[in-house]
Amino acid sequence: MKIKKAVIPAAGWGTRFLPITKSQPKEMIPVVDTPVIQYVVEEAVRSGITDILMVVSGGKRAIEEHFDRNWLLEAALNEKGRAAAAAALERISSMANIHFVWQKEMNGLGDAIRYARSFVGQEPFAVLLGDTLVESTTDVPVTGQLMDVYERFGGSVVALERVPREKVHRYGVIDPIAMDGNVVRARGFVEKPSPEDAPSDLAVASRYVFGPEIFDFLDRTPRGKGNEIQITDAMRLMVAELPMFGCVVDGVRYDIGNKLDFIKTNVLFGLRHEEIGGALRGWLRELDV
Ligand code: G1P
Repeated sequence: MKIKKAVIPAAGWGTRFLPITKSQPKEMIPVVDTPVIQYVVEEAVRSGITDILMVVSGGKRAIEEHFDRNWLLEAALNEKGRAAAAAALERISSMANIHFVWQKEMNGLGDAIRYARSFVGQEPFAVLLGDTLVESTTDVPVTGQLMDVYERFGGSVVALERVPREKVHRYGVIDPIAMDGNVVRARGFVEKPSPEDAPSDLAVASRYVFGPEIFDFLDRTPRGKGNEIQITDAMRLMVAELPMFGCVVDGVRYDIGNKLDFIKTNVLFGLRHEEIGGALRGWLRELDV
């Protein structure tokens, strides 16, 4: 069955990025001129997704408005002869069918995904974290790479990224059983382990493809790290009963939800930008730091 549905959890407080996240969703933080969540939706659409559920919370209205149509602004741009800019705005609201649901209490990523149960029904689905941009280094978007693994092996699959040992405490980490190439089978998962307790240096990297059975395991998942319901803990329960896989993806991850990576990503994407790239490169060369 072709995977057509995706869930984008975007309800978190964004406390690592205060004070901007006091009133602005962290998913709306820009990379040059585009909010990170737009890149996430574009990745899903390029992977073949047609329907997206965003799990939001209070204070996230800017996300809804970004994906709604803005007729007045489009008309104003058209009147000024800026038809291409108007068409680009229209495209944002017509890329996919976008649905919203509100997480009632901040009980963690696993709890947020649980809100997708009726949207998903009995189909496999993708999960893309709304604050992280992942750029594929091949023709296939990273979510598409996971879909291929799901189809080949018939089990849920997470994107993996090798990280330095001193950084494993920031991530969910897989206990892998080696397989062919870039796909491993999961023996277990640990959420944000200390370097000594980490079963590997392969971190869960913001993209997942799950079968609908994940909801049964989420129902059985007790509160874990941070007193929250963690998707990583539900995955650990699942691998005890069903095969699950990890794929070391061909791609580069940019976590916009933390300050240093946000700045680095903006510099990198700014350098590539046709309008400002040259000027930014010149200015960086002149900086005496
Ligand atoms: C979440 C997940 C974690 C994963 C990380 C990056 O953590 O809980 O397992 O490795 O995203 O994909 P967060 O960054 O929300 O703390």
